Amino acid sequence: LYLKNSNKSIPTKYLYDDTGSKLFEQICNTEEYYLTRTEKQILNKYSSEISKISNFEEVFELGSGSSKKTKILILEGLKKLTKLTYSSLDISEKALEMSSRQLKNISPFLRVKLFKGDFINDIIKLKPNQKPKLYLFLGSTLGNFNNQLAVKFLNNVSNIMQKNDYFLLGVDKIKNHKIITSAYNDKKGITKKFNKNILSFLNKKFKLNFDKNNFDHFAEFNKKKSQIEMYLEAVTDHKINFPNQETIKINNGDKILTEISRKFSDNTLEVLFKKSELKVIRNFSDNKKYFSLYLLKSMKYS
Ligand code: AVJ
Repeated sequence: LYLKNSNKSIPTKYLYDDTGSKLFEQICNTEEYYLTRTEKQILNKYSSEISKISNFEEVFELGSGSSKKTKILILEGLKKLTKLTYSSLDISEKALEMSSRQLKNISPFLRVKLFKGDFINDIIKLKPNQKPKLYLFLGSTLGNFNNQLAVKFLNNVSNIMQKNDYFLLGVDKIKNHKIITSAYNDKKGITKKFNKNILSFLNKKFKLNFDKNNFDHFAEFNKKKSQIEMYLEAVTDHKINFPNQETIKINNGDKILTEISRKFSDNTLEVLFKKSELKVIRNFSDNKKYFSLYLLKSMKYS
């Protein structure tokens, strides 16, 4: 935890405990959060094309969430395959459980394999077989990574990819700032609950005494960095006690960063793909160009 310096932050992964993962599912259904439904529309429209181009016999998802969107691609694959393996790598046990529940019974031809792990460091430990694979990284989870981490992650994916493999990446695009900002400030207050839940998790994990009432949810768009920044803002002076007797003073108005969510331009992505040795095969988008699915290949083989 980085609470002592003036730039206070809490690691984003702590947002996604069991409760957080469920709350995130609810965020996806809010009116303001356009990302999930837009990505789903694109998948519905283009899954047959994606399947035709990539010819996948295996789907390997990184950070699966609940796999509701993945189901569209799997059903497409099952139209022509009598055997399809779906593998999923996620840090959250709950997410893996939700994903297996979504997919387990959809077909006797589908095999589901679950891996618990972190998709930046553990992905290179995977030893993939020779089957043509479609790697998936959906939901604009890439937006959680700063540029350096994004390059590292994409390079790792590019490195494990073999000749016949494809990589489908879902990213949120830059658009009207009001639309972006309201997606992270929904009227029902689910994002606020999601953000504050990180404090309950920290209290449990590190035996701390954070009080949710001492903080407000705050999410704003940073134009210079083209990213949403989600904070918990203290509404009163107070102290946090650590089990080792240490205390940290929090002042009214202090902001603790909990998550960034980058909004990409075509240019940023082009640079990112180049640095990561990935080649764009196709770019699928919605009418308003709110969200994009990039079908990529590793440059190693071209
Ligand atoms: C799961 C990281 C893609 O950044 O839009 C939604 C998480 N946080 N509302 C996003 C999130 C607040 C989401 N990602």
